[in-house]
Parts: sequence; structure tokens; C-alpha cells
Amino acid sequence: LKHLLTIEGLPPAILFQILDRATEFEAVARQEVKKVPHLQGKSIFNLFFEASTRTRTTFEIAAKRLSADVINLNVNSSSQSKGETLLDTVDNLSAMQADMFVVRHAESGAAHLIASHVGPDIHVINAGDGRHAHPTQALLDMYTIRHFKKRFENLRVAIVGDVLHSRVARSQIHALTTLQVPEVRVIGPKTLIPRNVERLGVRVYHDMVQGLKGVDVVIMLRLQNERMNGALLPSRDEYFKYYGLTPAKLAHARSDAIVMHPGPMNRGVEIHSDVADGVQSVILKQVTFGIAVRMAVMSLLAAPMPHSAA
Ligand code: CP
Repeated sequence: LKHLLTIEGLPPAILFQILDRATEFEAVARQEVKKVPHLQGKSIFNLFFEASTRTRTTFEIAAKRLSADVINLNVNSSSQSKGETLLDTVDNLSAMQADMFVVRHAESGAAHLIASHVGPDIHVINAGDGRHAHPTQALLDMYTIRHFKKRFENLRVAIVGDVLHSRVARSQIHALTTLQVPEVRVIGPKTLIPRNVERLGVRVYHDMVQGLKGVDVVIMLRLQNERMNGALLPSRDEYFKYYGLTPAKLAHARSDAIVMHPGPMNRGVEIHSDVADGVQSVILKQVTFGIAVRMAVMSLLAAPMPHSAA
């Protein structure tokens, strides 16, 4: 694997390789010294052209734990503000002997464009492009599910909310179906579920209570207002009434169901605080696991020689 741009089309063996390597890095993270030498001497550039808290920070921590040098491009004070094109920026950073670009961009396809442009020795990781894909988020979500449920077989997983505008949901659906999760449900209003999404191997529910019945995993999504282009939306109160996860609605899932959210959460819109902070929530564990999963991805792409993680 040279770049990680999408989950779609990746074989199960690659996904399991990443999850297994992340498990080894999780063990390293429990040691007093959390660093390994795998990417010593490598220069990793974080290019975040769109806001991020979790992804950018955990990529930086992951790169540092792999002993790489990390450069965070400050997009607001970069020469893009003077009219430099994306590819000219990439060319100039490549001339600084970059080994890897971690790219987030509001335009779908931005990471693919950069990957098709850079030289043969540079790796590109998509850290979220428009509505298209967020592969490392899906991988850390799969890691979280395996950690708590121990398996993918026999699981029922529900993804709830604004599936239409969600790159996270798209990548999760590809990951869950690749890993042979037998029942993947999407739940949301008709206006926020993509047409023909059943083709991806999911069941569609518009009634949240029906959709949550008997599920093992509930993944909540944020309303992606920034990608809606002024579409007619339900009010926040109305949305919460029908699609907000409350303790009463969660009671329809299995009693040992876990609740996940990629963040950022909008409390009182898609999730009630009693659920977000409740015993079934694994939302902050997802964030922690993101470090090991991103270490696994970066080391598999760019480690100069085979290392075991530990
Ligand atoms: N889940 C996620 O992508 O969060 P950030 O936007 O904070 O990176």
C-alpha cells in the first residue's frame, strides 16, 4: 500500500493487518516510553485545509511516537492566502524533502489529486475529503468495535443521522461490509440518506426506534451543516425529537450495545448528554485508539524496513 485514500476496494487482509498492528502499538502506548523508531528521519507534513481537532492532533502524536519529524502547515498563514495553488504548495513542500502528506480538504478528491501528483517516494494519507472518505476514522472505528465486541461476525451495527453528507459514514460502510459485518443499518430522515445506498449492502430505516432494535453498535453522526448548501433542514429541536439518541431510544438496542461518535458532537442535536457521557459510550476511547491506528497506517506505508510494532 503506497497511499491510504479510501477504504473502498481494500481487501479484508489489509484492514486486519492495520488493526493487528494497531493492537501492537496500543501495547506500546501502555509502556513508560511510548516511542518506537520506525519512522526516524522521516518528515511528515500535516496539511489541514479544513478544521480538525481529533484527526490532526492524533496524526501528530502518532507521527511523533513513530519518531518522525512533524510539520503542521498553518493554512491560514500559508502562501495559499496569496493565491498559490494547492499543487504548487505541494510541490514546494515536496522540495523540502517531505516523505508523507496527511491531507484534509473540503473538496472531495483533493487527496487523490495530490497522490497522483507527488513523486514516487511520497506517501499520501486522506484525513477527510469533502463528503467522500475518511479512511483512518473508519479504521479506528473498526478497531473500537473489535476491541469491545471481539469479533465482526454476527454483529448488527446502526449508523444514525446525516449519512448523505458524511465521509465518515461512507468509509464506515465500506469497512463494515469488507469485514463481513452481516447487518449494517443506516437510520435517518429521507432527506439525509443517499438514494440507492442499499447498493452498498446496508438496510435503510427512517424510524429510529425500529432501526435500533437489537443492534450491538450505535454510531451517531453530526449534521454536516457546512456541506448542506442551504438545504431545507429540520429545526434542531425537531431533529433531536426524531433522531437524537436519548436513553429511552438507546434502550431499544441490545443492553450491551456500545455508542460511538466520530466527533465533534453536538449535544442536544444528535445525542443527549446522558448517553454521550453514559456507561455505554466509548466515544473518548475512539479518540485514544486513533493514535495507535494512525501509527499503524503510517508505519505500514512508510517504514523503511519491516518492524514489529513493539
Ligand atoms: N472525527 C474527526 O474527523 O474529528 P475532527 O474533525 O476533529 O478531526
